Amino acid sequence: MYLGLDLGTSGLRALLADGEGRALGTADGAYGVAHPHPGWSEQDPQDWITACTAAVAELRAAQPAAFAALKGIGLSGQMHGAVLLDAAGDVLRPCILWNDTRSAVQAAALDTSPGVRDLSGNIVFPGFTAPKLTWVREHEPEVFAKVAKVLLPKDYLRLWLTGEYISDMSDSAGTSWLNTGTRDWSEQLLEAGAMRRDQMPELVEGSAPGGGLRQKLCSEWGLSGPVVVAGGGGDNAVAACGAGCLAEGQGFVSLGTSGVLLAARDAYVPAPETAVHTFCHAVPDTWYQMGVILAATDCLNWLARTLGQGAAELAGRLPERIDGPSPILFLPYLSGERTPHNDSDIRATFAGIGIGDGPEALTRAVMEDVSFALHDCLDALQATGARPESLLALGGGTQSPFWVETLATVLGLPLDVPDKGEFGAALGAARLAMAADLGGDPAALMARPQISHTVEPRSGLTASYAEAHAKYRALYPNLKAVL
Ligand code: XUL
Repeated sequence: MYLGLDLGTSGLRALLADGEGRALGTADGAYGVAHPHPGWSEQDPQDWITACTAAVAELRAAQPAAFAALKGIGLSGQMHGAVLLDAAGDVLRPCILWNDTRSAVQAAALDTSPGVRDLSGNIVFPGFTAPKLTWVREHEPEVFAKVAKVLLPKDYLRLWLTGEYISDMSDSAGTSWLNTGTRDWSEQLLEAGAMRRDQMPELVEGSAPGGGLRQKLCSEWGLSGPVVVAGGGGDNAVAACGAGCLAEGQGFVSLGTSGVLLAARDAYVPAPETAVHTFCHAVPDTWYQMGVILAATDCLNWLARTLGQGAAELAGRLPERIDGPSPILFLPYLSGERTPHNDSDIRATFAGIGIGDGPEALTRAVMEDVSFALHDCLDALQATGARPESLLALGGGTQSPFWVETLATVLGLPLDVPDKGEFGAALGAARLAMAADLGGDPAALMARPQISHTVEPRSGLTASYAEAHAKYRALYPNLKAVL
């Protein structure tokens, strides 16, 4: 039996899987995000442990015999967060999360430091870890002086599970301290961020062992042990493991709170100038690239809140099939944008609303133009040579047939919609636990999910959506000029 733990932004999901990788049960625990100042986003790492303890108790109660046969634990986590620890391993301040934008100025400065993009393979985005530490150095020097270790969120959970300071390459690639090509900490990058190697955890591959469950927890959880804890990875890499996207040509597009278009790569081909992210995958000798848009279903949720309606209710008003683009444009930059603009200051806008347009027309524009934003991500990926032939369509937004057909047509790619079931980061984490326990080729354990149906692009409509996309693109520089 294997346990996958996915430490997300709004909660932790625990999934128990059998030796065939089948999900036997899940348990979820929620926690909050604090926003003590505009643009700040923090969590108390203790909340993750509380949620994990509760989720494990729930799984144990539901599946006592299966849980008692646990052989390994895998970890997935929200990326980029900075957990700062003193020499005794105590937390120095709340964790600064991936969606915290306080260090935009520090990120811009690091981004132009010589060699930083070349070595890390990425733009230094404001959400990444290194600029957070620069911010702490400048604004909380007494805290900075005590930093003995910096851990990513899932690695703090690992510290509690195992007592060891360990991370993996996929998560660490989001710090701007890792040489993403050689998969090791870079002295030059650490120096650029005024950090030292001894403040970093040891590195292992995501599918390799990364510590063992502490004796105290083995006893509390009724396990005879030993229980290996796999390296694990950043949430998107581990979700790609759960969805079987490991080889060149395989990828997914996710309509979640944020939107992601991800392609697995068998070589390291960074292209930071396109604002594409190039990170190590959670299995050896493999990388992945992704475009990230900061608001996907978040845009629909915002619209629904603003109109005083439910998001599903709004989506349900649209037809199942598409019939050409809306004349209304919507730039989905409610929280700024990563790919392709790397612009944390930009904000969203509608354009072209007519007197007769109501909730339905606005919903349609939101779905279409989030799809255009994801097409911008696809272009950024293709500029690096990535050539996904089809994509898995994941995330809550795929419940709308209108949105999925729009997205397939705008991207010009067939979208495979999986059957209902578990194939996300929690399953990916359980699969990594299995890989760490069993050894061998991890890819053999990471099958694609069963496909419910494939949505083909509507070729007769491609040209009209391309025309609308060109207008969408023309709007950004104009919006930028006035905001
Ligand atoms: C990736 C990213 C998000 C976070 C939170 O770069 O910022 O995927 O990991 O989910």
